[in-house]
Amino acid sequence: MTVRVPAKVNVQLAVGAARPDGFHDLANVFLAVSLFDEVTVTPADELTVTCSGPDADQVPLDRTNLAARAAQLLAARAGRPDDAVHIHIAKNIPVAGGMAGGSADGAGALLACDILWGLNTPTEDLLDICAELGSDVPFSLIGGAALGTGRGEVLTPVEAGSFHWVFAVAEGGLSTPAVFREFDRLAEGRDVAAPQASPALLAALASGDADALASTLANDLQPAALSLRPDLERTLSTGVEAGALASLVSGSGPTTAFLVRDEEAAAKVAAALEASGTCRATRTTTSPAPGAALLP
Ligand code: C5P
Repeated sequence: MTVRVPAKVNVQLAVGAARPDGFHDLANVFLAVSLFDEVTVTPADELTVTCSGPDADQVPLDRTNLAARAAQLLAARAGRPDDAVHIHIAKNIPVAGGMAGGSADGAGALLACDILWGLNTPTEDLLDICAELGSDVPFSLIGGAALGTGRGEVLTPVEAGSFHWVFAVAEGGLSTPAVFREFDRLAEGRDVAAPQASPALLAALASGDADALASTLANDLQPAALSLRPDLERTLSTGVEAGALASLVSGSGPTTAFLVRDEEAAAKVAAALEASGTCRATRTTTSPAPGAALLP
């Protein structure tokens, strides 16, 4: 049973003040992109996780892995006597990169185990389990494009035309809680507005007009990510100088995203980024991509 799950970029990430529970209210426009992890589950005597791919050594292989937690939660909810399953993650999404790679593995394992165990859990219930696993996990399950409110887990699908993207994978990762803490530190003594989705951005996203989308991209976590990783400024400017319509930090970073007009521009921007030495690797993608789906 192999499920393919997409990475995401946030074309808008509006962040409110810290809530009493430590989370932040968001107006978060998620867009799934064609960069995928594949999660394979097979019957086993106990719950085990393996991982392959260039960043495999950075992925925890114990029961705290989001994919393993998804299997445990689903088994408990379904009243199964055990959660014994082997989960293999073929990892292509950057680890701790701001592209919801861990969330993708959680959503993928959930769907794969649901099918393997013949549970037929209704999508609403799967989405509940996803929200318990993490704020970005419900979106990994549905994919496409959606507005996330609350802490990001309350989803309303939105329309999206097709766009081309280049991603620059940074050296090392950034901890999402650390980036939110830095956001709080930078906001100290200032009023933080309630987060709101931008009507102009949603219209641009729906229209498929890359120039319009380029002028509306916004990530409130970007100053915090750049404060922790000032080197990313050079990556951002390199992509724009090579012809990207716009650049931004993907989610909490440190992956950076470049919106480009077409495939040809994507190849040019990717080549310039690779030659610049300001990133570890690049990935060229399109959007929107479908959510978690069983491979034949
Ligand atoms: O929900 P998830 O476990 O993925 O969130 C990871 C961390 O990111 C949280 O513990 C919190 O520090 C931060 N976060 C936040 N506000 C959100 C989502 C995440 O502060 N809406």
